[in-house]
Amino acid sequence: MKNILLTGGAGYIGSHTVVELLENGFTLICVDNFTNSSPEVFDRLERITEQKVIWYDADIRDKKLLCSIVEDNVVDGVITLQDIRRLVNLLLTH
Ligand SMILES: NC(=O)c1ccc[n+]([C@@H]2O[C@H](COP(=O)([O-])OP(=O)(O)OC[C@H]3O[C@@H](n4cnc5c(N)ncnc54)[C@H](O)[C@@H]3O)[C@@H](O)[C@H]2O)c1
Repeated sequence: MKNILLTGGAGYIGSHTVVELLENGFTLICVDNFTNSSPEVFDRLERITEQKVIWYDADIRDKKLLCSIVEDNVVDGVITLQDIRRLVNLLLTH
């Protein structure tokens, strides 16, 4: 399992996860809509690790976009880190 799709990858836990996984030989494909973070996080992560992070500015609720990201990349595993509870609440109230 080498290629990890990480949602919420620019967040607090996500950015630490990116460093740990990159330093342990994984390839990261990150998805974040930057509601609570910024794309500059990935510049910093690439500088720290001296490795490339593939990232998409995308909302995980956008099924079509998510499908195209999975089609465009080899994905062996998924880690999801944006707040699932908030997401579920949002979906239930709309
Ligand atoms: N920070 C902690 O100390 C801590 C402790 C225990 C558990 N957790 C859990 O870990 C998870 C991540 O926490 P965190 O502190 O890293 O949060 P965070 O807000 O820093 O990171 C979440 C990331 O998800 C992104 N995001 C939010 N909604 C999105 C969506 N619809 N599509 C794509 N990206 C989206 C945000 O922009 C952000 O970058 C949460 O579920 C939290 O409850 C955090």
